[in-house]
Amino acid sequence: MAADTLSIKDNRTGKSYDVPITDDTIRAIDLRQIKVKDDDFGMMTYDPAFMNTAACRSAITYIDGDRGILRYRGYPIEQIAETSTFLEVAYLLFEGELPNKAQLDKWTNDIRYHTYVHTNLIKFLEGYRYDAHPMGMLLGIVVGLSTFYPDAKDISNPQNRYTQRIRLMAKLPTLAAYLFRHSRGLPYELPRNDLDYVANYVNMMFSIGGKHEPNPVLQRALEILLILHADHEQNCSTSAVRAVGSSGVDPFSAVSAGIAALYGPSHGGANEAVLVMLDEIGSKDRIPAFVDSVKAGHGRLMGFGHRVYKSYDPRAKLIKKVADGVFAQTGLNKKLEIALELERIALSDEYFIKRKLYPNVDFYSGLIYQAMGYPTDYFTVLFAIGRLPGWLAQWEEMINDKEQKIARPRQIYTGHGERAYVPMEKRK
Ligand code: CMC
Repeated sequence: MAADTLSIKDNRTGKSYDVPITDDTIRAIDLRQIKVKDDDFGMMTYDPAFMNTAACRSAITYIDGDRGILRYRGYPIEQIAETSTFLEVAYLLFEGELPNKAQLDKWTNDIRYHTYVHTNLIKFLEGYRYDAHPMGMLLGIVVGLSTFYPDAKDISNPQNRYTQRIRLMAKLPTLAAYLFRHSRGLPYELPRNDLDYVANYVNMMFSIGGKHEPNPVLQRALEILLILHADHEQNCSTSAVRAVGSSGVDPFSAVSAGIAALYGPSHGGANEAVLVMLDEIGSKDRIPAFVDSVKAGHGRLMGFGHRVYKSYDPRAKLIKKVADGVFAQTGLNKKLEIALELERIALSDEYFIKRKLYPNVDFYSGLIYQAMGYPTDYFTVLFAIGRLPGWLAQWEEMINDKEQKIARPRQIYTGHGERAYVPMEKRK
């Protein structure tokens, strides 16, 4: 018997099976041969929320949740966050290697010249009320983009996929800034192609009367935050992009599925939820009572805990450093003081220690965004701008993966067996 196999004995039949092991993993499909009767469907695995199921092979991002390690294409996040630009990281995620100067220049310029959006998109945006949630607007407008680029449907052509990637990378910041201006009733600020990616975005957000005085410390802090969010392997929104993309739909539609997933408070919406929570707590003396209510099962400590990280989220460590730089510029605020104290109390509390609940990337990111002047309900839009390269890189990897087909999980049917239809007059 080969050493790299798993022997399974089915005690219902007494039969034994040897299933190959590759990468410490067995293929679920190999279990289908395990049957009691020849016409049985065969054995499946049951794994709600994919707690222990690999849905793909991926060479993009490596996470070791127990040891708090995150690497993009092999490079530790700490090194990348220190020196890279966001576009350089996006290139790395897509292409697998860091760009040389010529490659980075071409990539940057290709994006630079696609930052404008069709003015009809503004009419579309203006259909939203001023108080529409920014993520709802983003979701609608990105899927709307797909109708402006019907050529994006040809996903079999790598050059065409590159074009759509460029369009999405270039236009998402423009749309994100426009929907902010729409909420405020401010005139739209056109993209400026003489500025770099982050500077152009910040200018479109905050320029008044054509003027904005950039703060280099805050812009670099934003760039680092975008880098820290750029990919996180098979998280909920990336899985959504892959699953929806597996149907063969265009990348704008697949990415909008990722935006929808990110909107949820258990995922990207958590940084917004952190700020709401800090508001609810209100003052430091109310923290112990709040922590007690969480422990009693009333709500969660938002910005704490992670499906994969069972030690300190490495991104949260880096974000804390970024926060120091930002708050040195903007000053401390009451919410930050509550957050620091809340973190201190939770990290020394048995409930959180036992469950390995540490601050995640969202615990401090919202506070930083707020200090930079972004409204609370807008934070997840910044997460979406950061995560876009990850979604697109994972989508591209999926398209090129010969093993992938349309995503279609199985179920364990728990409903009625066959029964006869009941006419209306006989129903109770
Ligand atoms: N506060 C209090 N208790 C918690 C928390 C929390 N934030 N997170 C998990 N727990 C408890 C949970 O009640 C459970 O306890 P018990 O074993 O007694 O039932 C135990 O810890 C395990 O929780 P789980 O729900 O099985 O863990 P999960 O892996 O399904 O959930 C999570 C991961 C991120 C959804 C969850 O920790 C959570 O809801 N955190 C708050 C929301 C948040 O900050 N989300 C951002 C995630 S990072 C950014 C991103 O990737 O989008």
